Amino acid sequence: MSTSAGAPRALPASQSLDAARRAALVTGESTTVADVTDERTYLVSGGRGIHEAGSPVNPPVDFTSTYSYRPGGDNRWEYAREGVPSWQPLEELLAHLEAGTRRGHSGQGFVTTAEEHPVPVLPGLLFSSGMAAISAVVHLLPPGGHLILPRHSYMGFSTLAQEMADRGLLTLHRVDIAETEAVRTTIADVATLAQAQDAPVMLWIESPTNPMLEVADLPALLAEAKRRGILTVVDNTFATPLRQQPLKHGADVVLHSVTKFLAGHSDLIMGAAITADEQLHQRLHQHRTLHGAVPGPMEVFLALRGVRTLAVRLDAAESNAAELARRFAALLPTGETPLRGVRYPGLGSHPQHARAAAQLGGFGAILTIELPDAATADAVLQHLTLWTPATSLGGVESLAERRRRHSTEPETVPDGLIRLSVGIEHVDDLYADLLQALRLVASENRDEKR
Ligand SMILES: Cc1ncc(COP(=O)(O)O)c(C=O)c1O
Repeated sequence: MSTSAGAPRALPASQSLDAARRAALVTGESTTVADVTDERTYLVSGGRGIHEAGSPVNPPVDFTSTYSYRPGGDNRWEYAREGVPSWQPLEELLAHLEAGTRRGHSGQGFVTTAEEHPVPVLPGLLFSSGMAAISAVVHLLPPGGHLILPRHSYMGFSTLAQEMADRGLLTLHRVDIAETEAVRTTIADVATLAQAQDAPVMLWIESPTNPMLEVADLPALLAEAKRRGILTVVDNTFATPLRQQPLKHGADVVLHSVTKFLAGHSDLIMGAAITADEQLHQRLHQHRTLHGAVPGPMEVFLALRGVRTLAVRLDAAESNAAELARRFAALLPTGETPLRGVRYPGLGSHPQHARAAAQLGGFGAILTIELPDAATADAVLQHLTLWTPATSLGGVESLAERRRRHSTEPETVPDGLIRLSVGIEHVDDLYADLLQALRLVASENRDEKR
């Protein structure tokens, strides 16, 4: 076994509820033996047990709500709402992916060096849904705090934040997250106001945003917030840790709807929050336990299985998305179909293309197309045979949805905008299906005009 990367790094001891879980992680109890150099390998090998003759290749799953205890004993595991051993492989895998550690474990602990591992790792925290993770994270902001939020952040959270603001729990400041100077000004203004009120501030970043695909200048905004002592959160659902690692830019908390790309098969709902901060970790863990926002054993099993193939799925879907964006962009000027616009961070026409190219490891598997109005967009969706009109994203199958069908999607999202979550089917089939739908609608429109 190679442990060339140097001495194992010890994580700080803690008396918290998490101490036992963390101890298990530090001793490498549930981890792989391999010392790996690439995240693709780590995705497959991370979180597996140390292999002995007869040991299962996949970590076992506990279908139990409670664990036996002994008075005065170690009693590491007690009640499944507090933590379950079979969550550990996925929780540590997500933490290492977000921290950018591409190492496995030595069996004696993390195999890392300061250069390779700039972010200390604490296990990720799995939640029953992305929204449960979001709810735990936003509750890190005490009542009376200020929340700076992108105007196009995921509508579920946008609605929750508005509801919390309406109840007087927080003051909401919506920003166009792509406009760095304007966001900087808001950060400065809110920080000054909050200081006078002795109130805390949280900066929430989603990038790329759902569904408008705006790309924030992560390093600049996180640095600005840090300078002013503002707590920072990044929803990394769209980019995934394979394309963007916000902890490395100084984010305090990164979160995911595991439901999407990480699990990848549209067959479960789950969330995760990852932080390198001991105190925040403890508070999030406590929130999860007390609010009961825990995932089920089958979901965790499926999500870990899904994560194993994240790299190959994302590569395939992203390459399809790039090709579709290129073909739609070429179709636009022909005027042959009602298509009015295409938006994809990988296109030169995207307003933050240069930023996306510099900042993201890839442009992702989501794009949007724009039709003139809701009726035309709905007609296109009606004619699809391969794409499924459905909400959600990040699965192996391609989904299409007109976002403004939801009353909570803001009016700044065009009525005729269709979000495409591109899967791993053959790109020619995906394009052909959309093209035939667009052409059918074009001919129907011509017939109506006659
Ligand atoms: C960017 C983003 N964050 C969070 C969520 C919420 O996740 P979940 O549906 O797993 O609760 C979603 C769901 O669509 C999302 O798109």
